[in-house]
Amino acid sequence: MVSFTSLDPPSLSAPAGQAPAGEESAANPTSSHFESLEAVAKAIEACTCSLCKERTKPVMGEGNPEAEVMLIGEAPGFNEDKQGRPFVGAAGQFLDELLASIGLKRTDVFITNMVHARPPGNRDPLPEELDASWPYLKAQIELVAPKLIVTLGRHSKGKFLPDTDSISRIHGQAFKRKNPADEVDSPADRQPHSASGFDGAQWYVALYHPAAGLHKQELKETIIKDFQTIKKVLTVVRAESLVLSQIENRKTQSVS
Ligand code: URA
Repeated sequence: MVSFTSLDPPSLSAPAGQAPAGEESAANPTSSHFESLEAVAKAIEACTCSLCKERTKPVMGEGNPEAEVMLIGEAPGFNEDKQGRPFVGAAGQFLDELLASIGLKRTDVFITNMVHARPPGNRDPLPEELDASWPYLKAQIELVAPKLIVTLGRHSKGKFLPDTDSISRIHGQAFKRKNPADEVDSPADRQPHSASGFDGAQWYVALYHPAAGLHKQELKETIIKDFQTIKKVLTVVRAESLVLSQIENRKTQSVS
């Protein structure tokens, strides 16, 4: 059974170390600087953070720029670092199979990571590295405006669903809460972003990282089952979009 849970929004405030409003610099970008995914990609390419100094290729994220679903993993690994693309190793192959199991292809969704360069030796990204990448990720969320964010693994779940139970309890559940794209960078940005869904909120589904399923058959089966939640949430968001467009149509008709 899928459980849909509504929670109070967590604080997704600007990370520690990020410049306060009005004091941003190229090294300390805020997401409001980016007008396109290409601009985000260029900034990631030019990034000189500690992780980027060690990478072979940056891994910007890829997929449908208008995707309904954004999948957010942890960090590029060995293969991703070589190719400059997310999820191209064994975990990526499993991810492709999972997407196919719900009738989706890579080109239907947008896939990105919490950090955009490989941590040396595949270690966990450090808090300051997660903070340094956040403006780029936030900009991707704003620009793609997904209806559903799927967190893959610990770091991604920790950012978007920090106050929920552990992944072992909440995997495969859907949550609805504040859209991180609505988080303001400066007073001038105090406009709700169009990414906001039906009631100004964003859908989330937290999943185990696909790599975890490569080592344990039991987890693999759990992840396959949990992927069905994505399909169910998509049915809901499409119904919500339909209702919203009908409300908009009525408003337009009553004005004219
Ligand atoms: N694991 C991740 O979290 N991201 C990738 O891009 C590849 C493996």
